[in-house]
Amino acid sequence: MKKQILFIWYSQTGQLSEMVAKLASGFDKNLVDIDFCQFQFKERFPFPWKKKKFFNQMPEVVLGIPFDIDEQPISFKSKYDLIVFAYQPWFLHPSLPASSIIQDKNIQAILKDTPVVTLIGARNMWLHAQEKIKEYLMQSSAKLVGNIVLVDGAKNLESMFTVQRWMFKGKKDPYFIFPAAGIHEKDIARLPALGSIIDKHLQANTLDQLQAAIVQQQGVVVKTQLIPLEQRGVTNFRKFAKWIYAAGDKESTARAKREWVFSFLLPKVASILSPITFIGNQIKGVLLKEKLDQDKQYFESIKFEKNKF
Ligand SMILES: Cc1cc2nc3c(=O)[nH]c(=O)nc-3n(C[C@H](O)[C@H](O)[C@H](O)COP(=O)(O)O)c2cc1C
Repeated sequence: MKKQILFIWYSQTGQLSEMVAKLASGFDKNLVDIDFCQFQFKERFPFPWKKKKFFNQMPEVVLGIPFDIDEQPISFKSKYDLIVFAYQPWFLHPSLPASSIIQDKNIQAILKDTPVVTLIGARNMWLHAQEKIKEYLMQSSAKLVGNIVLVDGAKNLESMFTVQRWMFKGKKDPYFIFPAAGIHEKDIARLPALGSIIDKHLQANTLDQLQAAIVQQQGVVVKTQLIPLEQRGVTNFRKFAKWIYAAGDKESTARAKREWVFSFLLPKVASILSPITFIGNQIKGVLLKEKLDQDKQYFESIKFEKNKF
């Protein structure tokens, strides 16, 4: 009997859709049937972003407050052998579409008692988002069996500039001294091989060994020097999210003022903090090598420990 597979995802620019297609192409079509469930939310999240609208998403993203899903792209089979849940981080948390999808009752029902592989397409900070996704999956009694992550190949500071040009102007190409924004094609080209690894472990009933195989194929990118930067960012985003959310509803002027403060500070603090933290982390990297190596191993794995952040 063919194994039944379901891919669920949302992609704003199409990057994650390309990743999904590449990963799926690695499965043997003689052995699997694949259903593709892509959410669009075109009116809700137009691309490129207007700045105001971009920062207006932050509180709901960080506090994990979902919107009601009003799309049903496909009708599901009653049971799947494996679900691939692909998503992107926004503000160091699962994106609002992703957290809304995964908290939806119909999706939770289909996830129940099913092995799940997560596929992440990020700039470079996804660790905390994945901790939240692990919690959502546990709430649905789903079983995380693998995690594949691709990130922007550029340096942190470089991609901070290129991602803004991409998000606000829709321009992804290399410009001035900067490389192209987003995940490099050569990395996306590695996905069929990873799809084939998932397929092999599914067919052989060895999904418990899948993540080790993914790590061996460099299917997860953990940048050790960014771990402390992300941890600090999550703490600050939570404070800002609560402060902005408390100001009033999404359209209120009081909330818009607080969002403006956040939008003013974020790029400045991030570009100042990044080089400072980089130097600090070079020192920490030597002093705390053992701890950072342990953290790297943890984030490469699919284990869950509460309060990692
Ligand atoms: C509002 C917003 C916030 C983002 N925040 C992060 C982040 O915290 N970490 C990160 O690695 N990437 C971040 N990104 C980049 C996305 O994760 C993703 O790589 C990019 O938006 C392309 O995804 P797509 O497939 O939906 O087009 C952010 C993007 C948006 C739109």
